[in-house]
Amino acid sequence: HVKTTIGRLLSLRTSKTPITVLTAYDYPTALACSAHPVDITLVGDSLAQVCLGYPSTTHLSLDEMLHHCRAVARGSTSPLLIADMPFGTYAPSVSDAVKSAVRMVQEGHVEGVKLEGGEETVEHVRALTKIGIPVMAHIGLLPQRHVSLSGYKVQGRTAQSASTLLRAAHALEDAGAFSIVLEAMPALLGAYITEQLNIPTIGIGAGPGTSGQVLVWDDMVGTWSGHKPRWVAITSCFVPPCLLWLRFVRHFADVRKEVVRGVSGYVNAVRNGSFPDSEREGYSMDRDEWEKFL
Ligand code: KIV
Ligand code: NA
Repeated sequence: HVKTTIGRLLSLRTSKTPITVLTAYDYPTALACSAHPVDITLVGDSLAQVCLGYPSTTHLSLDEMLHHCRAVARGSTSPLLIADMPFGTYAPSVSDAVKSAVRMVQEGHVEGVKLEGGEETVEHVRALTKIGIPVMAHIGLLPQRHVSLSGYKVQGRTAQSASTLLRAAHALEDAGAFSIVLEAMPALLGAYITEQLNIPTIGIGAGPGTSGQVLVWDDMVGTWSGHKPRWVAITSCFVPPCLLWLRFVRHFADVRKEVVRGVSGYVNAVRNGSFPDSEREGYSMDRDEWEKFL
């Protein structure tokens, strides 16, 4: 498989070949992303909820993120390896952003970073790009700000909010971002921003008109369930935008069903004595040795 470079992403964008992005949080998911290779593997800070059981991404520390980045890096080959900068590790100041991003490259072994934010993060993106750390920007719904945004809501549905997003997209491209995630916005706006930019856009709940798509691993394979906090946050605000939010997830497999089948099969087999089978699933011993032992 060919290694994904930033140049290759640009040519995929130019030829309108959709770019594929999946999240990975550990060695086996990184191997899976590399075997049927996606273009970009993202160690998303959705790690906080789907793997670590935190109620939101704001609980994730840089050290926790680094631990998972290293595991993913060990299994990652051709996809470009990008990781989210955790909440609080870049926004406070440009020098915080530089320090944290350098740690993510040196200790996390990732090839680039992603950070959430609009025009307020332009200087951060510029500084990282300047020292040679590729940056993926992220606008629209910003999960690290779910409290200030009053929940996980679709963004850019008014003319004013759409203009703010378009301005941010241009500013982030000018600052050097190699790509930009568009999360939870009307499909029309996702396509419009994509046409206005030269860098590839990666959509999640932004319609089919972006340069590529990203999904959270657990949403994609259908193991997303025991993570009530995010689920409750999304479904407990009964207004149309929240219904829209749910629209972008498609389960491409039903791994949860298989997990239930496996665990209940194992438990039943142990309890009813059918596992292990002494001949097929055990080790034998010479009769002589056994008698000596006795
Ligand atoms: O954290 C994450 O998984 C993400 C992607 C869904 C874009 O930011
Ligand atoms: Na994220």
